[in-house]
This record gives sequence, structure tokens and C-alpha cells, in this order.
Amino acid sequence: MSKSKRVTLITGASSGIGAATARRIAGPGECLLLHARGGVDGNKIPLFEAVADEARAAGAEVQISIGDLGEPGTAAALVNEAVEKFDQLDRIVSNAGFALNKVVGEITRDDLEYSHTIITGAFFELIDAALPHLTASKCGRVVAVSSFVVDQVPIKRMFPATAAAKGAMEALAKTFAVQVAAEGVTVNCVAPGFTEKESAGHSALSQSSWQAAAELTPNQRLAKPADIAAAIAFFLSDEAAHVTGQVLRVDGGLSLT
Ligand SMILES: NC(=O)c1ccc[n+]([C@@H]2O[C@H](COP(=O)([O-])OP(=O)(O)OC[C@H]3O[C@@H](n4cnc5c(N)ncnc54)[C@H](OP(=O)(O)O)[C@@H]3O)[C@@H](O)[C@H]2O)c1
Repeated sequence: MSKSKRVTLITGASSGIGAATARRIAGPGECLLLHARGGVDGNKIPLFEAVADEARAAGAEVQISIGDLGEPGTAAALVNEAVEKFDQLDRIVSNAGFALNKVVGEITRDDLEYSHTIITGAFFELIDAALPHLTASKCGRVVAVSSFVVDQVPIKRMFPATAAAKGAMEALAKTFAVQVAAEGVTVNCVAPGFTEKESAGHSALSQSSWQAAAELTPNQRLAKPADIAAAIAFFLSDEAAHVTGQVLRVDGGLSLT
């Protein structure tokens, strides 16, 4: 393995936090397997390709992969694709996800299971398939993008199915962190607060609710995707080698209210 080459798999990289993370870490020696669904009908594929082109322009080697994480096996196949293309896999950012704006009384059992499939299930598939590659890496890193909704209910109508799935993902991340710690692999979560959506992002809130969310946030603004990407990049870095099993809230102080 070339010492300077690092291979990173990022899910949900067509917009928002995933795209910002790709932009943030792209550079010479960085190999990126960028995944997205490409929009419900493929309408986001051009946007996704533009993100990949930006990363290439910054010096990274990039392959994109389109897949619906609702299909079992899709996430595991991404790991295999990364290894086939780049011969190794060092870092995973499990970012793809969504928020379901339905409360109990409206959520169905299928809704709950779908949230678990996309969020917890995909994260499980990624780490399960990547285990031998992460432990073989000299810089194994896993970052899962969680959410403030796990333990914050700042507005009355929140996202219980999303909270349940993200909470389960955090628990899985912490247990996996202990499992692989002796191999030098770190596993951490970043929990964004309310974060600006790109126009192509999937928003669960109305425009007025986003305004209210900014006002509820102590620093009086929404996070930018780049704010979240900066925290993800820290956990991916060599400097973060002694930090594992943590959940870092990047929320402008929301968790203090
Ligand atoms: N924005 C916030 O306020 C906020 C707050 C807390 C946590 N988060 C978390 O941050 C992460 C990124 O969100 P974002 O704000 O950057 O949203 P975004 O711009 O809508 O990006 C979501 C990404 O996930 C992908 N995705 C969604 N469902 C998928 C599925 N079934 N299969 C495959 N890919 C799927 C999307 O793919 P396509 O669009 O290409 O289909 C897209 O690339 C999510 O996990 C979200 O829960 C966001």
C-alpha cells in the first residue's frame, strides 16, 4: 500500500454535508468513492457528477456510484467497489440519510423500518463489509453522520423515526469503536444541528420552519454543510487518532438549550 494514498468512501455525496465533505478532503493522494442515490428519478446525477468533477479538479482520484440504500446489499457493494477500484479502503463516511417529518400516530411500522434500513442498516453493511480493510489500513477511520434529533426536541413536531434510527446508529458506532480500537481504527459520530440545505437537498421543513430553527439556535444561524464537513475531516485526520467512540455536536449551541 502506498503510504500517501488514502481511500475514502462517502455516502450521500450528491449535495449538502456529503458533497461538502468530498470538497473538503479532496486533494492529491486522496481517492474518493462517492455514492449517492442520484435523486428519486436520477435528476440529481448531473449535480452529483459536478461534485465529483470539483474533487477531481482539487487533485483527487474519484469514482462515483449510484445506488439506493433501501436495497439490501447496496452499501456492502460500495465497499467492494472501492476496493476493486483503489485496492484498499481506509476511511468511511456514512452520511446518506433523511428526516421523516411524521409523529407517532402518523408513522407506520414500514416508515420506522425504512428509516432503520437507510440509516442504521446501511451503516451496518458498510462497517461489516469494510472490517478487514479498515483493520488492514494504517489509518482506519469511520465517521457516521447522526443528528441532533437523537436527544433534542427543540420544536414540537420532530422526527421520531429518524431519532430512533440515528440513535441506533450511534450505539452501533460506539460498540464498533471498542471492537476495532486495538487495530488503530477510530469510529466517531458527528451530530449536526439544523443545517442549511442546498436547493437540491431533501428538506423535511418548510421555509418558515428553517427560519424558526435558526432563531432557536443560540448562535442565531443554521450550520453550513462546510461546518459539518470540518468536524468530519477532523475525525478522519491523523491528528484524531486517539479520539474514538465520540459524538461531536456541531449545532451552534442547540444542545445547551
Ligand atoms: N440538514 C440538516 O439539518 C441535518 C441535521 C441533522 C442531521 N442531518 C443528516 O446529515 C446527513 C446529510 O444530510 P444533508 O442535510 O446534507 O441532506 P441532503 O443534501 O438531502 O443529502 C442527503 C444525501 O443522502 C442521500 N440519500 C438519501 N436517501 C437515500 C437513499 N435511500 N439511498 C441512497 N442515498 C440516499 C441523498 O442522495 P440523492 O439526493 O442523490 O438521492 C443525498 O446525497 C443526513 O444523514 C441527515 O440525516 C442533516
